[in-house]
Amino acid sequence: MARLVIDTANKKSRIEPEVYGHFSEHLGRCIYDGMYVGEKSDIPNVNGMRTDVVEALKEIRVPVLRWPGGCFADEYHWKDGIGEKSGRKKLVNTHWGGVIEDNSFGTHEYMELCRQIGCKTYVNGNLGSGTVQEMSEWVEYMTFNGVSPMAELRKKNGHEEPWRVDYFGVGNENWGCGGNMTPAHYANEYRRYQTYVRQYDKDRPIAKVACGPGTEDTYWTRVLLETCYDHAPANSHGMMDLMSLHYYVFPGGWDDKGAATQFTEEGWYQTLFKALGMEQMIRGHEAVADQFDPEKKIGFAVDEWGNWFDVEKGTNPGFLYQQSTVRDALVAGITLNIFNKHSDRVKMACLAQTVNVLQAVILTEGEKMVKTPTWHVMHQYRYHQGAKLLESSLTGAETIGIGEWQVPVLTESVSEKDGVVTITLNNLSLTDAQDLEILFADDSAVTVKEASIVTSSDVHDHNTFDTPDTVKEEAFNGYSGEGRKLAVKLPRASVVMLRVEGKE
Ligand code: AHR
Repeated sequence: MARLVIDTANKKSRIEPEVYGHFSEHLGRCIYDGMYVGEKSDIPNVNGMRTDVVEALKEIRVPVLRWPGGCFADEYHWKDGIGEKSGRKKLVNTHWGGVIEDNSFGTHEYMELCRQIGCKTYVNGNLGSGTVQEMSEWVEYMTFNGVSPMAELRKKNGHEEPWRVDYFGVGNENWGCGGNMTPAHYANEYRRYQTYVRQYDKDRPIAKVACGPGTEDTYWTRVLLETCYDHAPANSHGMMDLMSLHYYVFPGGWDDKGAATQFTEEGWYQTLFKALGMEQMIRGHEAVADQFDPEKKIGFAVDEWGNWFDVEKGTNPGFLYQQSTVRDALVAGITLNIFNKHSDRVKMACLAQTVNVLQAVILTEGEKMVKTPTWHVMHQYRYHQGAKLLESSLTGAETIGIGEWQVPVLTESVSEKDGVVTITLNNLSLTDAQDLEILFADDSAVTVKEASIVTSSDVHDHNTFDTPDTVKEEAFNGYSGEGRKLAVKLPRASVVMLRVEGKE
């Protein structure tokens, strides 16, 4: 039988809430329709933001929202998205579906959305096709509290006070859609552009995010850190605070992604195998980062991650709209456990993307909204936000799979906050329940306070607008306990969360 030993006395790194962040791009129906419907819409909204979606995002405690891209960021000119809406420029979104972008959602709307969600802001600047002056003026527009041309423009547009920009990304995927740069070219451009991301509010400095790699190849990371690291003294908000990593799961590769809701047993294991590749991705780049920065002053921001399948039939191929099944729930559970375990280096992560795009947590159709299985996993895992990772060790769990797609049958992570221990477990087997003994290394007896599960009778199940509750978080009672031991039976293909506290 598998055994999980938890050492509550051995507290490790803090799991930053931002590890549970989200990404929203001007792509398909993520922003327009998905989050922003405009003040005049019949869909209930506050200042144009869908009330149902904002409420659902608050429920999973979205800590940070990245915007406006993605590839869109390096083509976005922020001045197109301010001022009277009727006067805003209309243009074609060349990256995503060739549709008209009317810029009705811009800086003011993004800040209002974050205010309603109650999350931190992460604005991604345009290095690929924008100028240093444009980027610098955007930062001035958003954050300068004084008399200056951009601050006056902001006030004229109705916002007297500056906003808080928590994170600022200097370009996106600049090795690809963000300008096809070599690492040396980007690293030098990064040095120049970030200089003008001015810290106008010394009490609330902006954390700068450099564009990192999107593959396991560490060449980009090495050149970037060689060029920029020396200038990032400890916690100084110097040249670089975070480096991004992007990691998507394409089950059969870019040209054979497969359908979101139809997959074989082999496809199940292949997808989970690739999701587990996140660990290698982090470890590889961490090995390089450790050479420059052994004290881990620079964090990783995995600011795009998730499953990328074929679009749903009949939808615009440029909109990347896909459904979400129990398979997505497992990928979310596995990935978030990996992030927790690497919380000494991974300081932020953003699921791609929040609504209606890729592994979304929410899907909308007109006034209807459904929460996907991934939303339910985010809800289970919300207790890890801001908690301390605990030392935990899993033994005796077998490896399962088909052909080359061999995976550990169980994954886990454990954290503690305010005396309550949160344990998140994944059973990757398509067929077999797993018995797990959980043993607490200290002497106190424990009691389970709350337990839940996300699974379904068929792993292809998903939530539709007619049947929105097929896959959801439900109370879990497959455990029994005595003293400092718990016995848990994890149903096949499930994500389980247990909240445990000490008992006299
Ligand atoms: O999330 C979709 C796209 O994937 C983003 O725009 C880009 O950064 C990545 O390649």
